[in-house]
Amino acid sequence: MIKIKNAEEIEKMRKAGKLAAHLLDYIEPFVKEGVSTLYINDLCEEFTQKHGAISAPLHYNGFPKSICTSINNVVCHGIPSAKDILKNGDIVNIDVTVILDGYHGDTSRTFLIGEVDDKVKSLVKRTENAMYRGIDAVKSGKYLYEVGKAIEKYIDKFGYSIVRDYGGHGIGRNFHEEPQVYHHFTQGNKIRLRKGMIFTVEPMINMGPSYRIKTSAKDGWTVTTADGSISAQFEHTILVTDNSAEILTKA
Ligand code: MF3
Ligand code: CO
Ligand code: CO
Repeated sequence: MIKIKNAEEIEKMRKAGKLAAHLLDYIEPFVKEGVSTLYINDLCEEFTQKHGAISAPLHYNGFPKSICTSINNVVCHGIPSAKDILKNGDIVNIDVTVILDGYHGDTSRTFLIGEVDDKVKSLVKRTENAMYRGIDAVKSGKYLYEVGKAIEKYIDKFGYSIVRDYGGHGIGRNFHEEPQVYHHFTQGNKIRLRKGMIFTVEPMINMGPSYRIKTSAKDGWTVTTADGSISAQFEHTILVTDNSAEILTKA
């Protein structure tokens, strides 16, 4: 069952989304060479608390930290650590989710550290473009699979691959609700979009031709590309409106 949010819920989702976007803006200047991902985590936790919100990832299904920090070949769910020091040439996805007044705002960006290889920079830019292509395909009355179709159409020509095992999701009072949002074309997403639905669009794009991933046996969370290739991601939480989408995680 996909929930249709009412006006009051939508207003709360706007506030939560805005706070999540502000959090990414706040953290950006700290995401630099020499900084540990744990330090970034701690600043995010402090900012979130100061704004009367809760970090959704903390203790979510046992996740140990407040945000996800995914470096280079890490696809998603990287765990912030004092041992992970950002270095020149890295890319890092910072994924934040705040709970404000009971509602979730979920957004991520991939940041460049110092001088990044041109090919990797292109991957990052195109991943962001892919997210916006997906968002632009959202129209009430159309099928949800238009999102994946638009992303696939854009991404295919680069020889990259679109991660299939993780996707977007409905969001509201719960961190993850129906529907599952695929970032490639599949009949599994033959779901009619209706005004008032809220979900995330968050493509994970691998630079190599394989979408395969593996999960760390050691920590049970860190997802990496199976072939070691670099992976990028961007995420927004969006609301289906009359004939388009409203981005809720915009500052
Ligand atoms: N923020 C992630 C998403 O976009 C989910 C992280 S779950 C966690 O869905 F437990 F790893 F934090
Ligand atoms: Co997220
Ligand atoms: Co999400």
